[in-house]
Amino acid sequence: MITTAVIPAAGMGTRMLPATKAVPKELLPIVEKPALQLIVDEAVGAGVDHLVIVTSRSKPAIEQYFASDASVEQSLERQGRGSVADQLRRYGSDIRVSFAYQDRPLGLGHAIGCARAAVGEQPFFVMLPDELMSDSSLLAGLARVVADTNIGAVALKRMPRAELSRYGIVSPVGDERTVGGLAALPFVGVVEKPSVDDAPSDLAIIGRYALTPDIFDDLDALTPGSTGELQLTDALAAQATREPLWGVISDVGRIDIGNPLGWLQAVVDAAVDHPEHGVAFRHWLSARTDARD
Ligand code: UTP
Repeated sequence: MITTAVIPAAGMGTRMLPATKAVPKELLPIVEKPALQLIVDEAVGAGVDHLVIVTSRSKPAIEQYFASDASVEQSLERQGRGSVADQLRRYGSDIRVSFAYQDRPLGLGHAIGCARAAVGEQPFFVMLPDELMSDSSLLAGLARVVADTNIGAVALKRMPRAELSRYGIVSPVGDERTVGGLAALPFVGVVEKPSVDDAPSDLAIIGRYALTPDIFDDLDALTPGSTGELQLTDALAAQATREPLWGVISDVGRIDIGNPLGWLQAVVDAAVDHPEHGVAFRHWLSARTDARD
């Protein structure tokens, strides 16, 4: 059972400027919930009770979101939204929230390394908060693979050739098989954002990982990679030289909300299924679309 999730949230969010000049990307709303809340819901759904948020002191709003605030909870109660108030009350009670600081965005590998003391010597999840997944099943599956094998596992998705250069792409070293009830394959190398011709496969790492704590030594030993940043993919490649890691091939619903188009898609997706506003929104949207055509 993995109960700790590291959520790196210290980046600059430059693709979402100017919104991210004042509001951290991770708190941009998907309808009325901040994106980070959806990540936390996914984590809690997979059994997590300790969140380690890697943040920067220049983004105090992230800590504020997790601080208890009786007046906010009372407002929610008055609006008949007691279940949301209850959800917020869990932070600091049955869900522990720790903060680790990365004061300069030196890269994702560096950000995860900053969480070392808070995680300790146990397997842990890494969840990139700018990727929304449709449910907790992928995370739960990654945890099963680690429990069965004692080896780290990353989530993979097959991507069209034209998109490979946007991701970390793995080099498989064996055939697909069933591990922990999921389609998985062992891999050794990882190439960060390769050109289409250099990509070792069509299997891209998506933003969910279940890692073993020995990765922290590989993170500490990182030197800047091709992009000048300390890359998590380089640490995974170093760890995989000792023993191949597992890649779990997933077809979970996924939206990358770190760019304007993806964020719009996530908002519309949540709006059409919204329990309170979905019906009215769908009517409005179809009338709006008809008027455009
Ligand atoms: P991204 O590269 O997508 O986020 O990192 P970014 O750098 O904030 O976005 P752009 O490219 O400037 O628009 C994925 C996640 O890792 C975190 C980010 O906050 C984001 O949630 N991250 C990235 C860190 O915490 N530290 C880093 O040094 C880099």
